[in-house]
Amino acid sequence: MTLVYLNGEYKPLSEASVNVLDRGFTFGDGVYEVIPVFNRKVFRFDEHMRRLENSLTAIFLENPYSSESWSSIFEKLIASVDDTEQSIYLQITRGVSERDHDISLADTPTIFAMSRPISKKDFSSGISAITHEDIRWQYCDIKAITLLPSVLLRHKAKQSNAKEAILIRDGYVTEGAASNVFICKNNKIITPPKNKHVLPGITRDLLIEILSKQEIACFETAITEKELWVADEIWVTSSTWEIVPVIKLDNKPVGSGKPGALWSSVNKLYQDFKSNYCN
Ligand SMILES: Cc1ncc(COP(=O)(O)O)c(C=O)c1O
Repeated sequence: MTLVYLNGEYKPLSEASVNVLDRGFTFGDGVYEVIPVFNRKVFRFDEHMRRLENSLTAIFLENPYSSESWSSIFEKLIASVDDTEQSIYLQITRGVSERDHDISLADTPTIFAMSRPISKKDFSSGISAITHEDIRWQYCDIKAITLLPSVLLRHKAKQSNAKEAILIRDGYVTEGAASNVFICKNNKIITPPKNKHVLPGITRDLLIEILSKQEIACFETAITEKELWVADEIWVTSSTWEIVPVIKLDNKPVGSGKPGALWSSVNKLYQDFKSNYCN
């Protein structure tokens, strides 16, 4: 039976519930992680744990568990799911308190984790994206559960028959609503540098690492909106989507209007890395 983890206990999802005064519910006061599982193995565990630690520190919460404890929680959840390809979702909120902004009123964080079959979509023929002003806050490097702007951005993309919104802040590309962005121009691969307006994506960093092992340069430099428009290829990356070619931007073709040659080779390198890691 599929189990979820809630505050020290394993139970069926239908039996897991939290107090309505949980600050995750009233304030969106918490952080989360999404970690892919391939062949029942947690992918890039250490990197996800590091990002979790950074998110928690940024919101003045301590990590409730050691990496070893997280690992054993994940193992139990993974074992309870039939599929071998899964996605772990974990969320830590500041816990229950009266509805007051003061964070000192909460003393016990709420800790929730589950693993679900990965809902993998085949995006190998490419997706459409829209561009949109980056309407989010100034702490986009924190993986905060407060996701209303991203939800609205994805909704706007959907209204335009697109899958993702590529965000522009002060004339520069930051990232997607729930992905990082890469562009290619004349065989040069570029992604925006990590800063307060970009989530440090685990897939982004892994892709840069894989490319550097192959001695393929990836430039972490600012991308102007103009450069986005004249890119030969655009890719978006995330743990569950992996590397996805964007073939239409605001309804206009990107490059040839088909997934590019560079994407095909880079995607193969990524898939090979994954197979070696998880076998
Ligand atoms: C805003 C944002 N940027 C980037 C990413 C990609 O991060 P990762 O590769 O760790 O999944 C995500 C993933 O959900 C995201 O929400």
